[in-house]
Amino acid sequence: MPCFKLALTVILTLAACSKAKSIGELFSSTPELRNFTSIASMYPDFVTTLSGASNITVLAPNNKAVFNNMKIMPPGTRNNAEHIKSLLAYHVLNGTYRVADFRNEPELLPTLLTAKKSANITAGEPQVVKAILMDDHVAVYSGLNKVSMVSRANINFAGGVVHIIDSVLALPVNVSMTAIASNLTAFVGALASANLADTVNTLSGVTIFAPSNAAFQAIGNLVGGLSNEQLASILSYHVVHSRAFSVDLTNSQRLRTAQGGEITIRIDDGNVYANGAKVISADIITNNGVIHVVNGVLNPNATNDEPDTGASTQAPAFPSATGSSNVPFTSGVPTPTGSGMAASFPSDTPSGTGRQPNAAASITSNVIIAAAGASLTFAAGMMV
Ligand SMILES: *[C@@H]1O[C@H](CO)[C@@H](O)[C@H](O)[C@H]1NC(C)=O
Ligand SMILES: *[C@@H]1O[C@H](CO)[C@@H](O)[C@H](O)[C@H]1NC(C)=O
Ligand SMILES: *[C@@H]1O[C@H](CO)[C@@H](O)[C@H](O)[C@H]1NC(C)=O
Ligand SMILES: *[C@@H]1O[C@H](CO)[C@@H](O)[C@H](O)[C@H]1NC(C)=O
Ligand SMILES: *[C@@H]1O[C@H](CO)[C@@H](O)[C@H](O)[C@H]1NC(C)=O
Ligand SMILES: *[C@@H]1O[C@H](CO)[C@@H](O)[C@H](O)[C@H]1NC(C)=O
Ligand SMILES: *[C@@H]1O[C@H](CO)[C@@H](O)[C@H](O)[C@H]1NC(C)=O
Repeated sequence: MPCFKLALTVILTLAACSKAKSIGELFSSTPELRNFTSIASMYPDFVTTLSGASNITVLAPNNKAVFNNMKIMPPGTRNNAEHIKSLLAYHVLNGTYRVADFRNEPELLPTLLTAKKSANITAGEPQVVKAILMDDHVAVYSGLNKVSMVSRANINFAGGVVHIIDSVLALPVNVSMTAIASNLTAFVGALASANLADTVNTLSGVTIFAPSNAAFQAIGNLVGGLSNEQLASILSYHVVHSRAFSVDLTNSQRLRTAQGGEITIRIDDGNVYANGAKVISADIITNNGVIHVVNGVLNPNATNDEPDTGASTQAPAFPSATGSSNVPFTSGVPTPTGSGMAASFPSDTPSGTGRQPNAAASITSNVIIAAAGASLTFAAGMMV
C-alpha cells in the first residue's frame, strides 16, 4: 500500500510538473498554423489577449486556408487592420469546446468579436458561430453561411483548446449582403423597393424571417397591386427586434414584429414554423442578428394562419394568390452565381473549380485576411 501511494504521488507530481503548452508554444510547434501565426503576430493586442486568456477555443485556419483566402481578397482591402482584428477575434470562442461537446444539433457559440461593424447586437452581446457535428466532423458556420470544417481537433494548451479548420471564417455582414449570398434576392429586392433596406441593415439585434424566392413567386400575381405602405407592412411583419436563434424558439411562442403584429412559432416533429410558413434554413448569421428562411410570405392580416404540417407545400397566407411565372422584385438585384446554395458561399477554392463566390460575397466575406497578405512576407511566426 505505502508503495502504491508513493507511486501515485510521483505520477501526480510529474503530471503537475509537465506544464501545459502556452498558446505561443503551441503555435510555434504546429507547422500547419505557420501562416495563421504570422498574421496573428502582427497584432500584439490579439497576442496579449490570447496569451492571457483561459477557457477559450481557438479555431485556427491551416496554412492552405489562409493562403487561399488571401488569393481571393480584393486588393483594396489588404491593409485594413480593423477587419483583420475583427476576423482574428471571430476565430476565438469564449469557452472550451472539445469535439465531445458538439452535437448533431446546431449550437451557437459566443466568440470574442464585439466590433459593431460585424456584431451590432443588443447590449454588446458578442457575435457567434454556429457549430454542428456532421458524420463525426465538426462544421462551423460563419458569415454568409460559409462552412469551415475542423480538420484536426482537440489540441490542448494552457488556456483551452485549438481546432484547426480548413477555411477561414467569414465575418458576418449586413442583412442585404447575407440574403443575396443565400439566394434570397426577391426579399432583398422587396426591401429595396419599399425603401427599408437601410433600416433593416442598421437595426441592432434582429431576427429576420426571410421568405424564399419561391415564396415570393407564389404570391407574384398580387405584388403589382400592393401599395408601398402595404409592402412595407408585409416586410416589417418579418422583422423581430431581438436575436432569436432556432434553439431559442419555442412552441406557441409569440414574437412581436416591427410591423406591430405578432408571429406565432410552432414546433412540430423537429420542424419550426412561423405562422403557416416553414423554416427551411435556420440560423444564418448576419452582423446584426440572424436570418431564418421561410417557405411562405407572412401576411400581417392573417396572423392566425397555421401550418399544414403534413403537407409538402404550403398554401400562401394571401387568399387570392395564384403565383407568377417570374420571381418578383429581383430585377437589379445581383444574383449568386453557380448552382445551389453552396455555390453562392464565398469559397476558399481559387477560381476554375466551379465553386466561385458571387461578386458581392467575395467583397465582404473575404475582406479580412487580405490585409494579412502584405504582412505575411515579413512576419516570422514570432508569436511566443
Ligand atoms: C503560406 O502562405 C505563403 C504566402 O504567404 C504561401 O507561399 C504558402 O504556400 C502558404 N502555405 C500553404 C501551405 O499554402
Ligand atoms: C465570456 O463569457 C462570460 C459569460 O459567459 C463573460 O462574463 C466574459 O466576459 C466573456 N469573456 C470574454 C473575453 O468575452
Ligand atoms: C468557460 O466558459 C463557458 C462559456 O462562457 C462557461 O459556461 C463556463 O462556465 C466556463 N468555465 C470555466 C471553468 O470558467
Ligand atoms: C448599429 O445599430 C444602431 C442602432 O441600434 C445603428 O444606429 C448603427 O448604425 C448600427 N451600426 C452598424 C455598423 O450597422
Ligand atoms: C450592406 O453592406 C454592403 C457591403 O459593406 C454595403 O455596400 C451596402 O451599402 C450595405 N447595405 C446597406 C443597405 O446598408
Ligand atoms: C390589411 O388590412 C387592412 C384593413 O383591411 C388594409 O387597410 C391593409 O392594406 C391590409 N394590409 C395588407 C398588407 O394587405
Ligand atoms: C435561387 O433562386 C432562383 C430564382 O430566383 C431559382 O431558380 C434557384 O433555383 C434558386 N437557387 C437555390 C439554390 O435555391
